[in-house]
Amino acid sequence: MKISFFSAQPYDKIFFNRYNQTGLELDFKEPQLTEETVGLVDNAEAVCVFVNDKVNASVCKQLAEKGVKVIALRCAGFNNVDLEAAKLNGLRVCRVPAYSPEAVAEHAVTMILTLNRKTHKAYNRVREQNFSLDGLLGFNVHGKTVGVIGTGNIGKAFCRIMLGFGCRVLAFDIIANKEMEAAGVEYQPLIEVLKADIVSIHCPLNEQTKHLVNAETIGMMKKGVMLINTSRGAMIDTRAVIDGLKSGHIAYLGIDVYEQEEHLFFRDLSGTVIQDDEIQRLMSFSNVLITAHQAFFTDEALSQIAVTTLNNTLQLIKSGNLTGQAALLV
Ligand code: NAI
Repeated sequence: MKISFFSAQPYDKIFFNRYNQTGLELDFKEPQLTEETVGLVDNAEAVCVFVNDKVNASVCKQLAEKGVKVIALRCAGFNNVDLEAAKLNGLRVCRVPAYSPEAVAEHAVTMILTLNRKTHKAYNRVREQNFSLDGLLGFNVHGKTVGVIGTGNIGKAFCRIMLGFGCRVLAFDIIANKEMEAAGVEYQPLIEVLKADIVSIHCPLNEQTKHLVNAETIGMMKKGVMLINTSRGAMIDTRAVIDGLKSGHIAYLGIDVYEQEEHLFFRDLSGTVIQDDEIQRLMSFSNVLITAHQAFFTDEALSQIAVTTLNNTLQLIKSGNLTGQAALLV
C-alpha cells in the first residue's frame, strides 16, 4: 500500500519515516498537487497533502480514476480541498485536527512580543555595536485588551497564554466555549472584539470568514492596533491592510500566512525577482513581521502530525472509516 506525499519537504521525510510503523510505502514528491501534477500519482491508495496543494474537483476526479481512496491532509485547515467533489468521487478525506495547538498559539505570542519589543532590531543593532535604545520603545502587554477571533483548539491555547500575561481577553466565536468563559474570557460581538489593543485571528477560512479583515472592519479597530494572523492568508484583504498600515491605523502587523503564499512560501527565492508587489510592499514596512507559515513548525507538532496522519490513512484504506470523527472530513 502506497501513500504519495505532495509538497514534501526534507523535514516531512524525516518525521514520517521516523514514525512509520504502518507498513505503508511512503513516496515523497516535491511538487504541489495541482491539475498539472496529479499525473505523478502512480499506483497509490492515498495521497498526503499540505496547506497549498490544490485539491479541486478536477484533481479529485483524476485521483479517483487512478484508484486513490484517501486524501490525508497533514494539517488542520482544509480550505484547499473541494470536499463535495471528494465525496462525489468516493474519496475519504482526513486531517489532523489538533496536533499541537500550543505550537501555533506560542508563535502568535512570539509575533506580539517581537513586534512590540523589537528584539529582531535589537539583535542586529547590538551585533553592530550599536547599544542605543532609540526607536526600541515598547509597551507592557500586561493590562492590555486582546481580541481573539475563533476560540477552537489554537484560540483556546492563545487565550490561556494571554490571560497569564494579565490581559483582558475578549473573544468572538460562533460558539462560546464554557471552559474559556470560566477562565475569564469575555465573549462579545465581533465589533467589540475588533476594538481591542491586539487582535489575533484563529478561525478557519471559509465563505463567511474570507477577508474578515477588510477596509470596513479595519475602520472598526482601534487606531494603533496590533493585528496578528496565524490562521489563513485570505482571512485578510491585503490591499486594505496595506492602506491601514500606510495611514498608521494599523500600528503593527504580524502574519504567518499570506493570501498568495502558495507562490512564495516553503521555498528559497533569494536568487529570484519576486513578482508579487503586495508582499514586497508588506516587507517594506518596519512594523510588519512576516514568517513563512512556520507557526506549526515544532518537533512536537511534526511528530504528532506524522503519527496521526499515518494511522488515519491506514485505518481509512483498510476499513473505509475512522474512529476519531473530528479527523474525518468526508
Ligand atoms: P478549530 O476547528 O479547533 O477552531 C476553530 C474555531 O473557529 C472554532 O471554535 C469555530 O467555532 C470558530 N469559527 C468558525 N467559524 C467562525 C466564524 N465565522 N467566526 C468566528 N469563529 C469561527 O481550529 P484550530 O485548530 O484552532 O485552527 C484554526 C485555524 O488555524 C485553522 O483553520 C488553520 O487555518 C489555522 N492553522 C494555522 C497553522 C499555521 O501553521 N499557521 C497551523 C494550524 C492551523
